[in-house]
Amino acid sequence: MPGEAETPLLVLPKYLQENELSQECKEVISSLPVEQGWVASHLCQYQGFWHSTRQMQGVLACQKHFQAHDTDIILVTTPKSGTTWLKALTFALLNRNKYQDLQTHPLLTSSPHVLVPFLELDLYLDKEENPLPDFTSFPSPRLFSTHLPYVSLPKSMKESTCKLVYLCRDPKDTFVSLWHFTNRLRLKNMGTNSLEDSFEKFCRGVSLYGPFWDHVLGYWKQNLENPEKIMFLRYEELKADPALVLKELASFIGSPFSKEEEANGLVDDILKLCSFDNLSNLEVNKNGKLLSGEENRAFFRRGEVGDWKNYLTLEMIEQLNAIVKEKLEVHGLKF
Ligand code: A3P
Repeated sequence: MPGEAETPLLVLPKYLQENELSQECKEVISSLPVEQGWVASHLCQYQGFWHSTRQMQGVLACQKHFQAHDTDIILVTTPKSGTTWLKALTFALLNRNKYQDLQTHPLLTSSPHVLVPFLELDLYLDKEENPLPDFTSFPSPRLFSTHLPYVSLPKSMKESTCKLVYLCRDPKDTFVSLWHFTNRLRLKNMGTNSLEDSFEKFCRGVSLYGPFWDHVLGYWKQNLENPEKIMFLRYEELKADPALVLKELASFIGSPFSKEEEANGLVDDILKLCSFDNLSNLEVNKNGKLLSGEENRAFFRRGEVGDWKNYLTLEMIEQLNAIVKEKLEVHGLKF
């Protein structure tokens, strides 16, 4: 009408323009704190932890729909703590009778991320039409993985007798690994994130599934309360004595190595199959891609403890150490 002000077009913020997000997901995100992410997607803070807006749909669907079985085994990790390695080891461990011929083992031709899918990042992502994944092809005991913090786990996971295997890593190495990884995922025209900017975000807790310390602390406390249900592992222990950790892991998931298996060298066979050198040199992990578009080789970089020494300044080291002291050491957790 003449003289009447034009109604302004509703301009949605960029992170709510993502077509794949359901209306419900957009509504949840629109009420959350949002920050620029490390890659393309923004990060939003849900239940105290930062998720990419892209993955929020999977997080919500998984929380709402996943029904854990008492026999399930769930690998829970902080990103860049050795998830790929833990997936390979646990898959090989659980299926050691099924795949006795190591020359034709599925790990030789499939990424560990395909063999042990993430719940919120694979199985429940982009499932608006049909939010329930088909679990019929998963033999019992089912093996899944997640990066979800304890507070956000589906209720049935906490209430059932399913086992949780938690893996984390020294935050300094975790940060360096995450910085490399996210820069690889950035499109060429986006340039790279500087170490300094990323470090500042990491220290504020604004990183994928961060704050790192809150994630670790959540599982550390649960492990102290209920060690039968939650096993707490660190990348550094796995590197220091992989045979010992593998045997403990086997016992924890209710499938201990028999004396005969140990005598036949099965522990070493699995460790060799899953070693960084072996996995990273396989064709599938050198040139393959995940359905999400990530290159398999991005999950294998150096695989060492202490690589942070090559990247962090003295000031950064002191800053991170101080946070760890304040947030974790008071709870008896040292790195
Ligand atoms: P670096 O970036 O320090 O090399 P995630 O699997 O959680 O994404 O973690 C990736 C980190 O684990 C990377 O660390 C990667 O190199 C390392 N890694 C991958 N496979 C490994 C293996 N089989 N043994 C040891 N480390 C491995």
